[in-house]
Amino acid sequence: MLKKNSKIFLAGHGGLVGSAILRQLKKKGFKNIIFATRSKLDLTNQQKVTNFLKKNRPKFIIIAAAKVGGIYSNNKYKGEFIYENLMIQSNLIHSAYLSGVKNIIFLGSSCVYPRLCKQPIKESYLLQGDLEKTNDAYAIAKIAGIKMCESYNNQYGTNYKCLMPTNTFGPNDNYHELNSHFFPALIRKIHKVKTQNKKNLSLWGNGLAKREIIYVDDIARACIFFMNKKIKESVINIGTGKDYTIKDYAKLILKIIIPNKKIKIIYDLSKPNGTPRKVLDVSLAKRYGWKSKTNLKDAILKTYKSYLNSK
Ligand SMILES: NC(=O)c1ccc[n+]([C@@H]2O[C@H](COP(=O)([O-])OP(=O)(O)OC[C@H]3O[C@@H](n4cnc5c(N)ncnc54)[C@H](OP(=O)(O)O)[C@@H]3O)[C@@H](O)[C@H]2O)c1
Repeated sequence: MLKKNSKIFLAGHGGLVGSAILRQLKKKGFKNIIFATRSKLDLTNQQKVTNFLKKNRPKFIIIAAAKVGGIYSNNKYKGEFIYENLMIQSNLIHSAYLSGVKNIIFLGSSCVYPRLCKQPIKESYLLQGDLEKTNDAYAIAKIAGIKMCESYNNQYGTNYKCLMPTNTFGPNDNYHELNSHFFPALIRKIHKVKTQNKKNLSLWGNGLAKREIIYVDDIARACIFFMNKKIKESVINIGTGKDYTIKDYAKLILKIIIPNKKIKIIYDLSKPNGTPRKVLDVSLAKRYGWKSKTNLKDAILKTYKSYLNSK
């Protein structure tokens, strides 16, 4: 049972998801949170991870550390993506087991489901079809992490759970020109339209592809909720269960960032649309009593403010 003084090791506390989990744990009054920067504890180093866990003996571990990126970097740096993710998660999961840690939350991702999945995507669709080629190295590593959690639960009776978040956004996101995900990239582009006083916003494809997004504080709440929940499944989708077109998101962000000016959206039809629809079936999480609660408009506003502060 999770208590306010339970020792929790949060791996990846400086990232988009990790920093939101840290904020949420502190807000909820958890007092015994441990974390380490990469320079102190490189999670790809097995010996260091084992020593750290044996010395600190946390009761719970949240794995929000990973090598993460958008299509471009996933496709270009496949070697780094597969190696670093396999090492980080294997070191943490195996050393956790050796150190007697019974409870882990491991973050998977909706993008490890098959490319042409039936929609909405149920947990049972994992490994039921071919993966998206551009991120298959990342996906294979993540799937190995999921299977590792399941296998340890099976053989050793541990309680290792994998949450599968949909596209996530919020403070501390990555807005890099080449490495960012679609939603922070949209915020960056629209901010550029504003600061350069442009009249048009150019988008890839016809804008009709549908995507689901979730605010990072909802993911953080889900981690704490499921850390404290006895459940029999080890894979749980975390999303809003609602999807909107890229065009809808662009219009909403335009309204928030450039409220008093009419900006024309130009669709670059020479560029791909991507998968027509990607949305998670979140009925399992709902059955356990969890659902997302953040208002999209408020979340975008908070995210944009933090983007401006980080510049
Ligand atoms: N972002 C999304 O849309 C999304 C959606 C679904 C699932 N997820 C999952 O959520 C998790 C976190 O993603 P994120 O978006 O928060 O990523 P992120 O912002 O890139 O954060 C990753 C964190 O991991 C740390 N890290 C990476 N390699 C490390 C190493 N070798 N040793 C120590 N620390 C290391 C990074 O530390 P540094 O600060 O030193 O780099 C950073 O704090 C991932 O498992 C991802 O698959 C994310």
